[in-house]
Amino acid sequence: MPRQLFVTTALPYANGNFHIGHIMEYIQADTWVRFQRMRGSHVNFVGADDTHGAPIMIAAEKAGKTPQQFVADIAAGRKPYLDGFHIAFDNWHSTDAPENHALAKQIYLDLKKTGLIESRTIEQFFDPQKNMFLPDRFIKGECPKCHAKDQYGDNCESCGAVYAPTDLINPFSALSGAKPELKSSEHFFFKLSDPRCVAFLEKWTQDGKLQPEVANKIKEWFTIRTNPDGSKSEGLGDWDISRDAPYFGIEIPDAPGKYFYVWLDAPVGYLASLKNWFDQGGPKARFGDARSFEAYMAAADTEQYHFIGKDIVTFHTLFWPAMLHFSGRKTPDNVFVHGFLTVNNGEKMSKSRGTGLDPLKYLSLKMNPEWLRYYLAAKLSGRNEDIDFNAEDFMLRVNSDLIGKFVNIASRAAGFLTKRFEGQLSPACDPQGQVLLDEIAAASEPLAALYEAREFGKATRDIMALADKVNAYTDVFKPWDLAKDPANNQALHQVCSVLINAFAMLTRYLAPVLPGVAQSVQAFVGSDMSTWQHPGPVQRIAPYQHLMQRVLPEQLEALFEPPAGTEPEKDAPKKGADAKKPAKKEATPVDPNAPGGEAIAPTIGIEDFAKIDLRIAKILACEAVEGSTKLLRLTLDVGEKDANGQPQTRNVFSGIASMYQPADLVGKLTVMVANLAPRKMKFGLSEGMVLAASHADEGTQPGIHVLQPWPGAQPGMRVS
Ligand code: MSP
Ligand code: ZN
Repeated sequence: MPRQLFVTTALPYANGNFHIGHIMEYIQADTWVRFQRMRGSHVNFVGADDTHGAPIMIAAEKAGKTPQQFVADIAAGRKPYLDGFHIAFDNWHSTDAPENHALAKQIYLDLKKTGLIESRTIEQFFDPQKNMFLPDRFIKGECPKCHAKDQYGDNCESCGAVYAPTDLINPFSALSGAKPELKSSEHFFFKLSDPRCVAFLEKWTQDGKLQPEVANKIKEWFTIRTNPDGSKSEGLGDWDISRDAPYFGIEIPDAPGKYFYVWLDAPVGYLASLKNWFDQGGPKARFGDARSFEAYMAAADTEQYHFIGKDIVTFHTLFWPAMLHFSGRKTPDNVFVHGFLTVNNGEKMSKSRGTGLDPLKYLSLKMNPEWLRYYLAAKLSGRNEDIDFNAEDFMLRVNSDLIGKFVNIASRAAGFLTKRFEGQLSPACDPQGQVLLDEIAAASEPLAALYEAREFGKATRDIMALADKVNAYTDVFKPWDLAKDPANNQALHQVCSVLINAFAMLTRYLAPVLPGVAQSVQAFVGSDMSTWQHPGPVQRIAPYQHLMQRVLPEQLEALFEPPAGTEPEKDAPKKGADAKKPAKKEATPVDPNAPGGEAIAPTIGIEDFAKIDLRIAKILACEAVEGSTKLLRLTLDVGEKDANGQPQTRNVFSGIASMYQPADLVGKLTVMVANLAPRKMKFGLSEGMVLAASHADEGTQPGIHVLQPWPGAQPGMRVS
């Protein structure tokens, strides 16, 4: 029986477009969902806009729109982000949809029957001009502790004190500027302090399902204790679930003028979106699941998982399970908490206004969405920990792993198979090739366990370690050498076939992260990439088409270039860029029929060539260049000595940072142009040039490859 999984991501506030933090959460969940589907699970994966609450109501008013129109306009902009990053929700709905109104009311009424809803009269600040009760965020005044002016109603940004809005000195309404009045009003509370709730939640949060760091944090909320400042923390408090009109939300049954606080109906939106998906016949069309939404939710084998960020743990591990349990419903099987994403060591992004990396700009620069998916996967773990998007790190990770290790395997082998063997693979295999293929096949279940546990970073590392082994095998058997002598035809055929079979398996392992690449490879190797199980050896390949380009430094420069007309902030985070202006790439005209994609240069005489003094150079040191995404600084020994007979080195800057880690190069030999006029660069003097190969068509043949001499060459030897 396939597992039945109901998976959600947090519902984003409908007061702004997605920022990169949202996209990270969706990529994490989407990767997990794709993995589960490859394993044969039936997954319903839904999202929705979180539409209600005072801030959205106020933002709509400012924009001169009804709240309904305001959130509809936001919803209309969601698709390009989701499609663009290959995030495949089955359904996207809204917490203002009729399903949510009905479900939220029903859950509330069911809760009420258990005696856990209580009404109390409380005193709150009221704006006499706006005629509304003010949410804490919309009351400002002087901090009662440090007397900083213009502080919010809940805490002081200057001294960090936490207090009630009524503690503020000279409070005023942030909406109208009016002095707020204290007014009493009836509010509804969910009695979380009830012993039944406390007992249930202690068990639900501490039974081992939650991430340990999350469960530990939650434990603190149950304990009655004395804080360092002498105040008492009470354990679980009751939860105020109502707000007074005017409020954009769902009206509370039998309580005119009272609305559910947004956080009551927001998680119900998970169910509303799923119900809407069932009512559209989604699960029936997908897996022949003809059950009703209600039957699906009541079924014992339906597993429910929520992916969320660390800032909304309380809502998902206390309020939400309690709401479900005490209204007679099943509770989530787990809540998966991730940390926050920062950009270029920047600060935490503002919740509403993402900073640093604009996802749509990323797409509009034709940057590959699967680069980002891979990079984030490589950094994500099953733990609640923050991660940073760093431009240099991104370029290097993607280029060295995906281009240098992975795509490389296919592009090396495919040409020989197509040209020499009509694309047909050899069923026979050399012993070393068999060992390699067996090892890759044996990684299937261990990798599945890592994906299951959301240890995507570990999974990608293990996959790249396998790719390293494939590349080592290639270097041992050297198909390009075998190809020189027709006597080696059979060996060439076998080696290239091993490479393609290895590549197909690695692609399958990466498919949850790289669905687009997997689809292209499916067409290339002719085997279905939608299952985790290997379907057996590849029979034949189609002609190789490029799978992925390399990340270019100029793309990152453009991505982090501030929009025209904006001055960089004083303390703007460091950009992943070399120069102020995006460097224009010298485009070599590509001629697909020419070797290396470009015609051979006009003939020169030997005397012209003799002018170029090429020498073997030893790379003594190599380091990244601060402020440059392109360059590495190389310290080269070409056997030179100064007047006192002391060894002398050369300093050379080389534009190869996108393919090599400095440590990869140290100690290696290469070839340099030793008599090139020194050039003054922004970062220092460059005393020569090292030789590297690249194809004129960056698109089909990405990569840049430093030359390395055969064994025996010594630093200083002339190359001619
Ligand atoms: N509307 C609520 C969630 C309701 S769920 C029933 C909300 N919305 S939000 O738009 O502020 O955040 C949506 C999700 O994005 C949350 O899981 C939040 O943690 C996540 N992120 C917001 N900024 C983030 C980062 N910088 N990094 C990673 N995730 C971040 O909260
Ligand atoms: Zn203060």
